[in-house]
Amino acid sequence: MSPLTPEERLESYKRLLVISQVLTSTLELFTLLDLIVNAARDLTRTEATSILLLDNKTGDLYFEAVTGSKSEEIKRMVVPPDSLAGWVVREGHAQIINDVSRDERFFAKSDESTGFQTRSLIAVPLKVKDKIIGVLEAINRADDTPFIEEDVEMMTTLSAQAAIAITNARLFQQSDLISEMVHELRTPLTSIVAYSELMLRREIPPLQARGFTETIYQEAMHLSSMTNGFLELSRLQSGRIRMDMINFNLTELVREVMQLLQPQTDEHGLTLSATLPDRNVIITADRERIRQVLVNLTSNAIKYNRDAGRVNILIEPLAAPYVRISIKDTGRGIPEKDLPRIFEKFFRVADSEGYATGTGLGLSIVKQIVEAHGSTIDVQSQVDVGTTFSFILKAAPAP
Ligand SMILES: Nc1ncnc2c1ncn2[C@@H]1O[C@H](COP(=O)(O)OP(=O)(O)O)[C@@H](O)[C@H]1O
Ligand SMILES: [Mg+2]
Repeated sequence: MSPLTPEERLESYKRLLVISQVLTSTLELFTLLDLIVNAARDLTRTEATSILLLDNKTGDLYFEAVTGSKSEEIKRMVVPPDSLAGWVVREGHAQIINDVSRDERFFAKSDESTGFQTRSLIAVPLKVKDKIIGVLEAINRADDTPFIEEDVEMMTTLSAQAAIAITNARLFQQSDLISEMVHELRTPLTSIVAYSELMLRREIPPLQARGFTETIYQEAMHLSSMTNGFLELSRLQSGRIRMDMINFNLTELVREVMQLLQPQTDEHGLTLSATLPDRNVIITADRERIRQVLVNLTSNAIKYNRDAGRVNILIEPLAAPYVRISIKDTGRGIPEKDLPRIFEKFFRVADSEGYATGTGLGLSIVKQIVEAHGSTIDVQSQVDVGTTFSFILKAAPAP
């Protein structure tokens, strides 16, 4: 056993002080969580650290941030209530286990999926006032010395700061989202109020009245798709939605989406085609959400196309186990200066309004879903030539 020397101890506390200052200065949740796990790893001199958060609604405890390269795979994984972290949440105080093999509370399954061989572990609750919002955990001391009371103290101090910072960032995120939402709802609401007021106040000729009612109906529909889209986006952004990963036939899904959008394609006099491999492509992903991605991208390709234009959905098997999906159109294209902004919520290219109705939420939702699958969405576009959106998913392991 090698407790810290007084110099080392002082050094650690100095670092803790610096970290606390950094924590109070950022309100961006992901950056913040990253900072916390990395600080915890430095302070405890361990191989890996993680933050688990408690889902208020379901009561699930899930990994929200993890140090190291595997972090994306582990993120959002739920740990069972009888794990050590679950125990810390229930009991509300810190735990040290210096030999995992002798403790039955240890959650061995997380080792299987995280690929980490846990030898020793320290876990402290993340508390705001008396409310526990999650757990800060560190595993495997780099030099294999046991965890001591001093480590608990350090982790507890860090977790107290971290819990407050997380709560602030969450509140900030919410208020930010809400004010943006209210701002966007104002325009359609104003015109609904104005037109219905007109109709109530005056005797309006039937033909004109019909026109007004149509406008009210359209604006109301627009409001409705905005609130739905917004709800969906904030759910996805909260990170509390898990992808329901299953193996399914991607080629079949593409055909399904094409069939769904055929009427829209005909209406615009476009050709919708697919380039599919000879064999069925089975992938592992959230089917419902990938369907949503395909529908969003393909309807954009239709909406922002030109007369007698074309839309093609392409599936290409890449080096195993990857598959690329692209949606290519011969549409109006996206100006280069707007490309970096098209995934922002509510953003629409300036003249889109005159072209097609929309909320500017579709691509933000697409991006969130694709990223929740550990992938990225790519776009290439040339004005007056066309646009291609593509992303890569994983094929299912061969049976
Ligand atoms: N395939 C495309 N071709 C040209 N412009 C596009 C295409 N897809 C998206 N855009 C532009 O990006 C903006 C954002 O798209 P999206 O988030 O789906 O919102 P919406 O379709 O509701 O306007 C659109 O308003 C449009 O200006
Ligand atoms: Mg759209």
